[in-house]
Amino acid sequence: MPTTAKDGDARMLGNAVQEEQKKNARPSRQINVVLRSQETSLSVSAASPAAGEAAEAAQAASKTSPVPETYAEIQKEMEPMVGLDHVKSLIFEIYALLHIAKMRSEVGLQAGSHVYHMIFKGNPGTGKTSIARIVARLLNKMGVLSKGHLIEVERADLVGEYIGHTANKTRDLVKKAMGGVLFVDEAYSLARGGEKDFGKEAIDTLVKAMEDHKNQFVLILAGYPLEIDDFLMTNPGLPSRFPIQIDFPDYTVDQLIQISELMAKERDYSLLPQAVFKLRQHLVEERASSLFSFSNARYVRNVIERAIRYQAVRLLGQYPGGVPGRQELMSIRPEDLKWDKSN
Ligand SMILES: Nc1ncnc2c1ncn2[C@@H]1O[C@H](COP(=O)(O)OP(=O)(O)OP(=O)(O)O)[C@@H](O)[C@H]1O
Ligand SMILES: [Mg+2]
Repeated sequence: MPTTAKDGDARMLGNAVQEEQKKNARPSRQINVVLRSQETSLSVSAASPAAGEAAEAAQAASKTSPVPETYAEIQKEMEPMVGLDHVKSLIFEIYALLHIAKMRSEVGLQAGSHVYHMIFKGNPGTGKTSIARIVARLLNKMGVLSKGHLIEVERADLVGEYIGHTANKTRDLVKKAMGGVLFVDEAYSLARGGEKDFGKEAIDTLVKAMEDHKNQFVLILAGYPLEIDDFLMTNPGLPSRFPIQIDFPDYTVDQLIQISELMAKERDYSLLPQAVFKLRQHLVEERASSLFSFSNARYVRNVIERAIRYQAVRLLGQYPGGVPGRQELMSIRPEDLKWDKSN
């Protein structure tokens, strides 16, 4: 089962796709949402006003809801995620739309048929896969998708070695994704080889599947901002098929620290203040020096997981034959934080 995702080059967001989209008239029933990173670049935590408003609106909405727990469950999953306020708001919008559509159809009004295929643009480790899983579950809870699972694939999973092979491979994966989300990571790599490349066959097969199986699966194309923009520009038929585009901005150093602390806490560890200080300094440097390949939350997850291993080795050395106290067992000290270029 393909479940891989890779880090790679990344650059800043352009607005060429938005321009391209303006040129392409969309069917009137599609949701037209393009979110830009600068709108939310100041947000640092889930407890921001935008998230708060969404939560209040959700509470108010749930009072009359036939499925009152639906959004609460999704919110519970999203709330601990640091930042991403615009994504949280968009997910609430989708929920609201589906919820109202249900009410409308109950009183005989048109419920509309919407298109939920999406583009996720963001550098490595900015939460794209995590959010895709949440979207899959939301669409399942709201009755759009029958299963709500996520199949994550990349070029090698879709593209074959001879004529016809690619279409078969791609169709098989679409089949597996039925009732859920097909998440294509580094989607632009499908167009890299030009007209003669089998990647083109994969794109054509995906487009055909979107038409043949309307609303039976949701396709999310993900990738680094500039490459995704190029990809959409070189495939002019594509942008209008993906009415929902979401930008995943790089995390700020403050957000990365919050994410580190959250990851440590989830594992029953805590970073001592000196460790936080050391990590902060390192993140400032690392972010600046690997501008195009810094892997955001994935980077800090690796740092924390490595620190947990180093802490274990340190404790065994410090307490040969003895048992460290509870506090010691939990504490990540500055000396447990070591950097590795392979991150
Ligand atoms: N906002 C966040 N708050 C807390 N943890 C986060 C957040 N964003 C990402 N993470 C964590 O960071 C790790 C990487 O996230 P994820 O796989 O969703 O990113 P991605 O954008 O898909 O990365 P890639 O492009 O490398 O596939 C996961 O362990 C995820 O739980
Ligand atoms: Mg991913």
